[in-house]
Amino acid sequence: MSDRLWWKHGVVYQIYPRSFMDSNGDGVGDLAGIRARLDYLEWLGIDAIWLSPIFPSPMRDFGYDVSDYCDVDPVFGDLAAFDALVAEAHARGIRMMLDWVPNHTSDLHPWFRESRASRASAKRDWYVWRDPAPNGGPPNNWAAMFGGPAWELDGATGQYYLRSFLKEQPDLNWRNPEVERAMHGVLRFWLDRGVDGFRIDVIHRIAKDPELRDNPPSERPGPGWGGQRHVNDENHPDIHGFLKRIRGVLDAYEERAAVGEVGLLPDQVATYYGTGDELHLAFNFALLLIGWDPRVFGRELAHFDRAVPPEGWPDLVLSNHDIPRHATRYDDPTLGEARARALALLMLTARGTPFLYYGEELGMRNGVIPLERRQDPLAWTLHEKASRDGERTPMQWSAQPGAGFSEKEPWLPLAAGWTTRNVAAQRTDRGSILWLYRDLLALRRRTPALERGAWHELPATDGVLAWERPFGSSRALVALNFAGMDRAPEFPSAVVRDGLRTRAGVELPENAAELVLGPCEAAVLVVDA
Ligand code: NOJ
Repeated sequence: MSDRLWWKHGVVYQIYPRSFMDSNGDGVGDLAGIRARLDYLEWLGIDAIWLSPIFPSPMRDFGYDVSDYCDVDPVFGDLAAFDALVAEAHARGIRMMLDWVPNHTSDLHPWFRESRASRASAKRDWYVWRDPAPNGGPPNNWAAMFGGPAWELDGATGQYYLRSFLKEQPDLNWRNPEVERAMHGVLRFWLDRGVDGFRIDVIHRIAKDPELRDNPPSERPGPGWGGQRHVNDENHPDIHGFLKRIRGVLDAYEERAAVGEVGLLPDQVATYYGTGDELHLAFNFALLLIGWDPRVFGRELAHFDRAVPPEGWPDLVLSNHDIPRHATRYDDPTLGEARARALALLMLTARGTPFLYYGEELGMRNGVIPLERRQDPLAWTLHEKASRDGERTPMQWSAQPGAGFSEKEPWLPLAAGWTTRNVAAQRTDRGSILWLYRDLLALRRRTPALERGAWHELPATDGVLAWERPFGSSRALVALNFAGMDRAPEFPSAVVRDGLRTRAGVELPENAAELVLGPCEAAVLVVDA
């Protein structure tokens, strides 16, 4: 279909570049490695790749601390390797999204070095500097998300700079038009190189209260992030103006798209679509935070579906590099596999653009990282349990040493079970979760109702979540059984034309009304409208 838009009707696959494929034996993934695995991604059937940051960085926050927006960190390769990756991805019909980090730079970015050099620096106002409070303390009560106050004192110049995350991640001052201009230049640099779009890091924080008023206490007052209501340090209305101008930069090119990380409540997130003149997509993170309950899943899907404005389009996220993998969150000694399979079906049959996280197609679980191998700074700036290393372990390609990811000891240890849970093993097993993802991706692509249809929850038996996706002359009926025993969703009578169920080796019924789902099984049935 010629009006098929990759970011709207397609499926995006997130790669954490350090962990996907190491081509040069240094234990860290790189761009040439990703390129070598494009065959696999084409076989799988995804439409686009989102690369977590690849830019030069001291890696205090593994690339979310950028020291040069217009180059590639040597650990990942260089611009030539990037161009080769994009060219080869495009030749296979795969789009490429980069991760743009506009809220903050690294403290080693030349902009910040110049800014901190003196109060009179031409770049002083590129960041948010303030005099100490009368008592010598920070200018206000804001807390950093990654621990400590949001202000860091620069001894040499006697002022504090704002940092919403680590102290090595100073916040840019978007209210300075030179910053906005420079950042638009960064977008154009990559758009001109053929990049198809951007995932935008914490876009809801690029403008704060200009008067820097204190945040009021939350219901659980305390010194840290959770002790405050974040009414003054994020979600400032001026962000929408910035976003409209960012959209203007993208719209000067053909079919480019931006998906924003907006860490707010769903109704607030939905405002970042504007009226189709801000973000193309804003992540719906609601499914990252809920228990295994069909009513809650149904409620959250319905909520975001309604909240997104008519010009917008929803999206689906179950895992990413910041939160334990969903196969781990919903793991269970007997039903864990069935749940991971049912959620694969949810991701690829609900309404919105799915964002798959590398390895979820294998049912990858979080790794357990021994203390001495911890990498994520949150383990020491926040809490040992806050470490995000577990969801960032290397992709499991094969049962070879290093899981086919690296010939050397990988930067993070492999997750348990990699000798059997890997691409090579699952490709030879037609009943594997990997084949289920591939089959679902193919079904989605040949079924306009799944790519485009509306979403309506259907009444269903206790323990079952069901919906329909009508489009033109057909509709898809979907049911997920959250219960640990058989359940009949009680679909209407209709001849089943196409579909899939998540239990390997079990046939689809001829009539939708006959469908009985096993424990934590899900099915999608395509029927006439
Ligand atoms: C959100 C990113 O997803 C996370 O990984 C990062 O640490 C913070 N933003 C700060 O950039």
